[in-house]
Amino acid sequence: MSVVALVPAAGRGERLGFGMPKALVPVDGVPLLTRAVRGLFASGCVHHVVIAAPPSDVDQVRTVTASLAPAGGAVHVLAGGAERTDSVRLALAHALAEIPDTRVVLVHDAARAFTPPSVVRDVVAAVESGHDAVIPVLPVADTVKQVDEVGVVVATPDRAVLRIVQTPQGFNARVLENAYRSGLSATDDAALVELLGVPVATVPGHPHAMKITTPFDLAVASAVLSGGTR
Ligand code: C5P
Repeated sequence: MSVVALVPAAGRGERLGFGMPKALVPVDGVPLLTRAVRGLFASGCVHHVVIAAPPSDVDQVRTVTASLAPAGGAVHVLAGGAERTDSVRLALAHALAEIPDTRVVLVHDAARAFTPPSVVRDVVAAVESGHDAVIPVLPVADTVKQVDEVGVVVATPDRAVLRIVQTPQGFNARVLENAYRSGLSATDDAALVELLGVPVATVPGHPHAMKITTPFDLAVASAVLSGGTR
């Protein structure tokens, strides 16, 4: 029975300002996508990785990821879709068709390239222990406000019950398949599963699993690397 990680990596990454897809932006000479896939396999519990690549860069993504799979594993690369949800839907369909013994599916953003392998292991272990959906989370350090359309505060939710959500998010393969049948869109996969009424469990995330979106995030990632913390 296989654990398959879907990696949506088809975003243009315009907020990063490199003039290339974010997944291919190098940190210390190594593309973010390569780092993300290495981290998944380094967990020791992921067998296959299915990457949704920018449609114009499928060949380049194949080249940079070809040698990353360990013995017995594989990297699959296909063209992603217009939105993140479309990219995940395409990668999930590929996984279910091509890897029939898929039991656990992870969805992991290429942009979370520095996620420690221990987080991957914790998510997979929680799914394997019987949770249908598992997400890594962090407590919220700042107070969060809800505002109206002109920016006036309408509510201050209790910070103690809020969490920042990271990836990889882990699912029983059949549950994620049902969630994606809805045809809806969401900024994370657990939100689609929540709509089915399936409980979503949490495990501790990690600051290094931050999503790299802006040049500031990239600078933080470089600092983490040069500090030798990974
Ligand atoms: O844009 P954002 O940073 O939220 O994207 C999160 C992840 O989804 C990134 O890894 C990005 O490459 C991926 N994505 C995708 N297909 C899209 C848009 C984003 O795979 N059409």
